[in-house]
Amino acid sequence: MRFLPFVYGDDSLTGEGGSAILVKELYRAYARFKIAYGEERRNMIDGKKVLFSGMQATGNLTLGNYLGALKNWVTLCDEYQCFYSVVDLHSITVRQDPAQLRRRARNLLTLYIAAGIDPEKNCLYYQSHVSGHAELSWILNCFTYMGELNRMTQFKDKAAKHADNINAGLFTYPVLMAADILLYQADVVPVGKDQLQHLEITRDIAQRFNAIYGDVFTIPEPYVGKTGASIKSLQNPEKKMSKSDENPNASIYLMDDPDTIIRKFKRAVTDSEACVRYSEEQPGIRNLIDIYCVCTGKTPEETEREFDGKGYGDFKMAVGESVVGVLKPLQERYEELGKNKDYIDKVIKDNAEKANYYATKTLRKVQKKVGFPERIR
Ligand code: TYM
Repeated sequence: MRFLPFVYGDDSLTGEGGSAILVKELYRAYARFKIAYGEERRNMIDGKKVLFSGMQATGNLTLGNYLGALKNWVTLCDEYQCFYSVVDLHSITVRQDPAQLRRRARNLLTLYIAAGIDPEKNCLYYQSHVSGHAELSWILNCFTYMGELNRMTQFKDKAAKHADNINAGLFTYPVLMAADILLYQADVVPVGKDQLQHLEITRDIAQRFNAIYGDVFTIPEPYVGKTGASIKSLQNPEKKMSKSDENPNASIYLMDDPDTIIRKFKRAVTDSEACVRYSEEQPGIRNLIDIYCVCTGKTPEETEREFDGKGYGDFKMAVGESVVGVLKPLQERYEELGKNKDYIDKVIKDNAEKANYYATKTLRKVQKKVGFPERIR
């Protein structure tokens, strides 16, 4: 199988012809076969599979980030050894105010803990405190094709949005993301739907590298929550709810007070059907039902029954109140933690050491494989 990545790689430079697709499919089938028969290397820490995910500390976190990612992370440490990074290297692909970036990074790490992610059981750290991310990213750049990166929809979106600063970092962003994940030999990566394309390229890069050098990297699987994986804008339900949306009414921010939350839901765009139904034809109502379901644990069918014969006003109010109920404890805990500087500092220091330990193990192995000289001790 060693020749396969070269064939696939060459074709991916010029676009995918039929032969490239066939080879790619064959390669994927081979990878699936190896996993199914236990041949694929599996990384375990303390008897647990490994999980990696991260968030950018740019802009105010939204309800989408919380319901699509953070909320799902809390209980995963029972099953996985979890690494959750504040991905500040990714943030500078867009111009940042340095003081603000530092403050937001710390706030985000504090928010991880406030959301219930225990820093004793999970590794919460800043990406910039583990130099292995950047080092592995460089190596993986040399195993990634321009053709692949050109196909990334997030790059196209961001390049359109920041036309005055289409830097190389923005282009190779998915490679850094691959490095984040592969550095810890992650088996699973919980993300919202918007990140699935980046997961796919991570798998392709890892499989290509493994086919050349042996089973170096664990091939990660995406882990997408059943609900909340794609929370939409309250003003345009065709778009995802995003930190960078210019219209503040489009997003619920995690630190919004109850009145603001209720007001934003009252203004949410719906339709003229006047019927609370979970259907593709009513994207605004569907989004509100999704939010209500994640916040209350109810199903869309139960929600339809609950609001049968009631107007949108009642329904929007109930959705707003369910969100207030979820965010209030989070906000209170966040306030409390913010006062405890020493505790947060200790979490940052201890967890960066832990992350560095595991990152270095993979990095040294990769460096050796590609032919870098051994360190003299
Ligand atoms: P970021 O910071 O944009 O988003 C963090 C997480 O929130 C999810 N998310 C959503 N989920 C549902 N509905 C929405 N409206 C919504 N908006 C955001 C995202 O899917 C993500 O899971 N590139 C990543 C960060 C990253 C990363 C990684 C993630 C860097 N390296 C390695 C996983 C693994 C990003 O910018 O996410």
